[in-house]
Amino acid sequence: MYINNHIAGMPAGYLFSEIAKRVKAFEARHPGEKVIRMGIGDVTRPLSPFVAEAFAQAAREMATPDGFHGYGPEGGYPFLIEAIIKGDYASRGISLSHDEVFVSDGAKTDTAAIQELFSPDAVIAVTDPVYPVYVDANAMAGRLGSHQNGRWERLITLPCTHENGFVPEMPKERVDALYLCYPNNPTGAVLTHEELRRIVDWAGDKGTLIIYDAAYRAFIADDSLPHSIYEIPGANEVAVECCSFSKTAGFTGVRCAWMVVPKGVKGLLPAGESVSLNALWRRRLASKSNGVSYPVQKAAEATYLPQGQREIAENIAAYRHNAGILLEALNGLGLDVQGGAHAPYLWLKAPGGMTGWELFDYLLGRARLVGTPGEGFGPSGAGCFRLTAFGSREDTIIGAQRIQDALKAL
Ligand code: MLT
Repeated sequence: MYINNHIAGMPAGYLFSEIAKRVKAFEARHPGEKVIRMGIGDVTRPLSPFVAEAFAQAAREMATPDGFHGYGPEGGYPFLIEAIIKGDYASRGISLSHDEVFVSDGAKTDTAAIQELFSPDAVIAVTDPVYPVYVDANAMAGRLGSHQNGRWERLITLPCTHENGFVPEMPKERVDALYLCYPNNPTGAVLTHEELRRIVDWAGDKGTLIIYDAAYRAFIADDSLPHSIYEIPGANEVAVECCSFSKTAGFTGVRCAWMVVPKGVKGLLPAGESVSLNALWRRRLASKSNGVSYPVQKAAEATYLPQGQREIAENIAAYRHNAGILLEALNGLGLDVQGGAHAPYLWLKAPGGMTGWELFDYLLGRARLVGTPGEGFGPSGAGCFRLTAFGSREDTIIGAQRIQDALKAL
């Protein structure tokens, strides 16, 4: 059998697997030394007890004749879809119908899978630096051509750097699909209503689909900033939105997310006839998924109940506090830092002209601390470095001190 050469030809390993491999090798060479992890954006605080109880209760229910659930609806149980619409959209003045929300096991899964609806030669644009999943999924589908000198031949990259204030400039070329993530992973940048409105208007003019990843929106500290792209008029005709319980409710190991595919979003068939993405996504799901388990969806529903809301808010506040600790330490060093205020990520320019990978090696060796080199997120990430605020308070304080000591010594 001949294999998919687009997967075989992918450069190196997946970013976070590559980092985990390097850290494991380092730990094997330095047994017993505590390494502080600020690399992958994985949460560390335990589940809210209220949410965990709903999870357990649903599992117990499954062990009774009346409470047993077999295959659920592939797009999610109505009770969870209702809770999502009420808690995350109606509360911000956005109206969605039940059949526009699809529950899944992760925003990673959804942002990687949506490209299956695009034509094989669709033109893709991403902000740069970018969460690698959007790029890798399109590359594996053969849509990006070859990879040379760190760039994909057919990918349009929109630089978001310290120099342009992390606001992407829209391209002149035709683009079929544009991936956006705000609050941004990896830079921690946010867009104002006005900035997002300009992009939505551009997409409407050009016939471009926006895939909006809002996985980090619970970290937005300023209520006047857009939490959902559907706060922008017209977005329900140009955008799908992915969101997740992973970072909001500590579900990275539980797995639950959703994607909104409004019925007004259309694509074109080769003959020019328009077709609803919502219908296509439902069709695809019916063939490829049996949905998310009942206990997981009951746990997710519990995050919207008052006690669940209070408990998950405490976790988010704790991570925000960590971000504040890191921000203060980095600012104290006079570094050029972005993020941390509305996102669990801090993005800095590596000091002394180092590359991100040089800083990675330096901090791992000298401070026993893991971050993520900016190069892993795309060409505009060169010479930058990402830290996450998802550690414990104790590790964050130790880590901030170690970074200060290590960088002062440079
Ligand atoms: C990250 O570190 O960028 C995220 O944890 C990756 C993810 O959410 O899959």
